[in-house]
Amino acid sequence: MTATIIDGKEFAARVRGQVGEHVTRLKSDHGITPGLAVVLVGEDPASQVYVRSKGKMTVEVGMKSVERRMDADTSEADLLAVIEELNNDPEIHGILCQLPLPDHLNEDLIINSISPAKDVDGFHISNVGLLGTGQKSMVPCTPLGCLMMLRDHHGSISGMDAVVIGRSNIVGKPMAQLLLNDSATVTIAHSRTKDLAEVVRRADIVVAAVGRPEMVPGDWIKEGATVIDVGINRLDAPEKGLKEDGTVKTKLVGDVHFESCAARAGAITPVPGGVGPMTIACLLANTVTACCRANG
Ligand code: GUN
Repeated sequence: MTATIIDGKEFAARVRGQVGEHVTRLKSDHGITPGLAVVLVGEDPASQVYVRSKGKMTVEVGMKSVERRMDADTSEADLLAVIEELNNDPEIHGILCQLPLPDHLNEDLIINSISPAKDVDGFHISNVGLLGTGQKSMVPCTPLGCLMMLRDHHGSISGMDAVVIGRSNIVGKPMAQLLLNDSATVTIAHSRTKDLAEVVRRADIVVAAVGRPEMVPGDWIKEGATVIDVGINRLDAPEKGLKEDGTVKTKLVGDVHFESCAARAGAITPVPGGVGPMTIACLLANTVTACCRANG
C-alpha cells in the first residue's frame, strides 16, 4: 500500500482562514479584537522560532499579538506578576507561556497561575480535569490538531484501536484522552512498554510523540493504519553538504521512519508539513474560542 499523505500545511491554512473570518466578524459585529499573549523566558533557540511564528500568524489572522520576553534568570515572582497582569488585561483573551521554562522555575506553579479561561494551551489543572471528564475545556493545541486530521480523514474513529506512543502532559496524555472521548480503544505506550512493536502492530491509528528520531520502523505498522507523527527532530544531513559557516546541514525528521511507514500505512502525516502547522492553527482557534466565551 502507498499511503495518502495528510497535508497538515494545507489543512492548517484552511483552519487559519476560518479563524480569520471569525475574527473579522467579531470586529465588525461586536467591536472586539481577540488578543493572544505569548510569554518567553530565556533564549532557547527552538522556542524563539516557535514564538516568532506564533506572533506572526496571530497578526496575520487579524488578532492582537503581545510578546513578553523575559531574561533566563527571571525570578518566579516576576514571572507570576507578568502573568497576573495579563490575566487582568481585558484585551488579552489567551495566554501561553512557552515551555520548557528554565530549571529554577516551577512549571506547574506557573501554568496553574494562568487564568483557566485564558489558558489557550489547555495545560491548567482545571482544563485537564474538564477534558478528562468530557466537559467543555480548553484543549491542548497539538493533540487537537492531530484529532482534527484524524476526524477529517476517517469521519469517525469510534471503535478503532489507537496507540499513543509517549505520555507527556503536553501531547501523549491529552491525545489519549481525546481519542477516548471519540470512542477509540486507546493504549498509551511509553519507554517501559514491554513489546512496543507488538502493541503498535495491533493499532489502526498510531500517534508517535516521543521525541526520538525515526524510532518507529515501517514493519511495526499494520497494513492500512493511519500514522500521525508528532515528532520534530533535527538530524545532521551530511548528504546535503555544508552550510556557509562550514557546519553540516541538517534536516527535520519525525518520530517515525517516513519512507518505510508510508509503504505500509493507509495515511501518514509528513515532517515537516504535518502536525506542526496544525498546532499553531489550533492555538489561534483556541484564542478565538476563549474570546467568544469571555464575551458571552
Ligand atoms: N513547548 C512545546 N510545545 C508547546 C506547546 O504546545 N505549548 C507551550 N506553551 N510550550 C510548548
